[in-house]
Amino acid sequence: MPLSIKHLTSTKQLTKADTDAILAEAAAMEKVIAKGGDDRLHGKILAALFYEPSTRTRLSFEAAMQRLGGQIVTADGFQFSSLYKGETLEDTIIMVSGYADIIAMRHPEQGTADRAAAVSPVPFINAGDGPGQHPTQALLDLYTIQKERGSIDGLHIAMVGDLKYGRTVHSLTYLLGLYKNLRFTYVSPDSLKMPEKVSSFLKEKNIPYEEVTDLHAGLDADVLYMTRVQKERFDDSAEYEALKLKYILTADHLKGKKVTVMHPLPRVGEISTDVDALPNAAYFRQAKNGVPVRMALLSMLLQ
Ligand code: NCD
Repeated sequence: MPLSIKHLTSTKQLTKADTDAILAEAAAMEKVIAKGGDDRLHGKILAALFYEPSTRTRLSFEAAMQRLGGQIVTADGFQFSSLYKGETLEDTIIMVSGYADIIAMRHPEQGTADRAAAVSPVPFINAGDGPGQHPTQALLDLYTIQKERGSIDGLHIAMVGDLKYGRTVHSLTYLLGLYKNLRFTYVSPDSLKMPEKVSSFLKEKNIPYEEVTDLHAGLDADVLYMTRVQKERFDDSAEYEALKLKYILTADHLKGKKVTVMHPLPRVGEISTDVDALPNAAYFRQAKNGVPVRMALLSMLLQ
């Protein structure tokens, strides 16, 4: 089934039919991976433009393209001469669309994904725009929740940490808004609360949520989504240092608990390594799910 969108910049664009189709296709892609991939994207090229560092997102996009027989051209960091020469983002996107059939871009500034999509002649995917959105992460998070918990409707989801600058929790909240009878617990320091745009979305949709500062409020949820304090978004390093390890989840917190622990990774101390061996720890499975989900998305946007 083709998607209702040409470009993916925000999870707010997706319909329930889109997410159902992507989750089903991602499950089918796990079987494709198991048999060594196929050639359905033979002759197609993905341009991966990373103006901001990335390991998981970039490698899983590359792996996804290659599993389906497609190819990749990439630019990042010092290779990005257009950035240093002062080329506009719009010109870069139009030019790159002459080389590739689809573009994935990560950029430090919120709003750049919409600017790029507005001029892109080929499908464009937001791979993270500053503190804005990270829709492909949200899709793999959704896929992980479904796999780990069996279904999505009716779940209690707790999100912990840097809810202000963490783009993954913004995108995931919007996406979960498509499901029924969910409720949210947001755990953060006062200075890193969910932005107004996200809480007003929940109010409009009558989705119950609470905002608290104590990690214990999330331990009896179905899903505990931990996040890293986003160092690169702070102007004041002392403020970052004071907040960075406000929440540290340890194996002791999880004694007798059934909660599924997720994290978009990288973790920098907020989940103790003694959690890794527990059945609750889903974060490495979650990262692995990035490949089938991005395979599904790439093949559907290129249909
Ligand atoms: C996240 C991101 O880039 O927003 N990482 C990722 O893509 N898996 C989370 C983070 O960097 O903290």
